[in-house]
Amino acid sequence: MSVRIAPSILSADFARLADDVGVVERAGADLVHVDVMDGHFVPNITVGVPVVKALKRVTKLPLDVHLMITDPDRYLEAFIDAGAAMVTVHVEVLPHLHRTLSRIRELGAKAGAALNPSTPISTLSEVAAQLDYVLIMSVNPGFGGQRFIPHSLEKIAALQAWLTSQGSTAAIEVDGGVDLGNANALTRAGVSILVAGASILGQPDPAAATLALRRAADAR
Ligand code: DX5
Ligand code: ZN
Repeated sequence: MSVRIAPSILSADFARLADDVGVVERAGADLVHVDVMDGHFVPNITVGVPVVKALKRVTKLPLDVHLMITDPDRYLEAFIDAGAAMVTVHVEVLPHLHRTLSRIRELGAKAGAALNPSTPISTLSEVAAQLDYVLIMSVNPGFGGQRFIPHSLEKIAALQAWLTSQGSTAAIEVDGGVDLGNANALTRAGVSILVAGASILGQPDPAAATLALRRAADAR
């Protein structure tokens, strides 16, 4: 299966969000990645439930909602009601990760766990069966346009090996500094969802950038 491309709206023009999402949707993007930040878990504040609800009205693409917030449990239902098809929570803030992932599924969305660059894969060791996907942060979360941390590649390869050993078919998503230069190595290491902010909606021609990223990722 071809890699799924998830443009991040963090690099969009928020005053023209529907237009920007329309451009990447027509260019063949697979998901819309929505970065929710609370100014507490990460040093930045972005958008919340109302923006997810508004996006749901203007795109048919599944909404991939990345919760960079201290207390995701409080808001799972609201984000899923608003239209989130995928909900990613950070393991760093969740003492009851098994419960949280199970709850996301009960509410009808795909459940993903995100790991910061300094968070080991072993934090997932008891929840393999609760994961629809794992999001590997390849920058420290909080801002778009940062540089890819090279060690993420080894981490992804190790995660892929561990998932296989568990009999898990969970997908691997990578987020942060993804571009034409690393997309192919990432998919070879096991990534099937590429999040891209600066390298898609941060480009003058986001449609061409979407196609170019897919071509780079899928090249043999
Ligand atoms: C960063 C966010 C990312 C961000 C990626 O904290 O989680 O989704 O939008 O942006 P780029 O691709 O520009 O690194
Ligand atoms: Zn993100």
